[in-house]
Amino acid sequence: MKKIAFYDAKPYDKIYFDALSREYGFELKYIETKLNGHSAVMAEDCEGVIAFVNDTVDKETITKLDSMGIHVIAMRSAGYNNVDIKSAYEKVHVLRVPAYSPYAVAEHAFALILTLNRKIHRSFNRTREHNFALSGLIGFDLHGKTAGVVGTGKIGRVFIDICRGFGMNVIAYDPFPTPDSNIEYVGIDELFKRADIISLHCPLTKDTYHMIDASALSLMKNGVYIINTSRGALIDTEALIDAIKDHKIGAVGLDVYEEETEIFFEDFSGEVLEDDTLARLLSMPNVIVTGHQAFLTREALENIARTTLDNLKAYFDGEALENEICYRCMQFGSCRQDHKERCF
Ligand code: NAI
Repeated sequence: MKKIAFYDAKPYDKIYFDALSREYGFELKYIETKLNGHSAVMAEDCEGVIAFVNDTVDKETITKLDSMGIHVIAMRSAGYNNVDIKSAYEKVHVLRVPAYSPYAVAEHAFALILTLNRKIHRSFNRTREHNFALSGLIGFDLHGKTAGVVGTGKIGRVFIDICRGFGMNVIAYDPFPTPDSNIEYVGIDELFKRADIISLHCPLTKDTYHMIDASALSLMKNGVYIINTSRGALIDTEALIDAIKDHKIGAVGLDVYEEETEIFFEDFSGEVLEDDTLARLLSMPNVIVTGHQAFLTREALENIARTTLDNLKAYFDGEALENEICYRCMQFGSCRQDHKERCF
């Protein structure tokens, strides 16, 4: 049996991975610590690593794993902005789960919209205290409003279908529009100006870092809703807080936060929150923060476990790696995966 180090392990991961790992011939070593240059040594007796979104897969970590004879990291996520792909090239194969349930994330984004608009979070608290007053709970019809969708990949397109089901108009921005998709694509500034609700479904890259900043916010409609289920650093959080305090923004739903790495996925109840920016957001009645849970459905967890183990099996069986993330392919556009070859 091949032994694989499983970093940042949580009880819900174990349920879905334990159900499958024996069938694949893997022994999983669950490690609660996050992967980084220091904790990499905990994988010493292993032949591969499974990592997640808030692990630090930088040059130091990769060099350490490489020196220990570990040449495969299976990300159990779609996003990989926490991986230094350039450093990994020719040292460690980085695999990922490109799709596991776009429905999970898109439905969560819409759940945030419905909760914020109809003030469900406030009613929940009120009625528990036998307060059935309605003041302050006025929402608006979503029907006829305009959703601005940034990124029309797998999740963005499911989100668009949901919006249309509610009778909303949809406009979208994506540098790579989906052909023949019946989506009205507009420039990013026009989207910011026209949308009543803006939902982010693009990856975090150097181009998208802080795409919602003070200047983008200044273009938006008064009362706009902003929903981010993608990556925290798409939004300049300080600029966002200023715009909320200026009453520019109607509501904000965040499943991700730019400084989430040391906070999300852990239980700090009973402790004083040291992050003042997050504490400020949490104090606002028109802001809902969920702790990077958009992916958390049974179907998604099953698919994540299956694809992660498929990826590792393909690696150890010497097969082509269809879910490899490769610096060379991204840099030069020529892709060995197209020829069913490994990237290096
Ligand atoms: P995808 O790769 O199918 O789609 C991403 C889309 O973004 C593509 O159409 C791409 O052309 C577009 N894009 C690239 N650069 C852009 C830019 N500068 N501006 C606008 N659009 C741009 O990815 P998928 O599966 O739809 O996931 C989207 C994002 O959702 C992921 O990158 C990840 O960050 C996030 N995510 C969050 C989860 C959560 O639990 N909160 C779970 C899974 C993904």
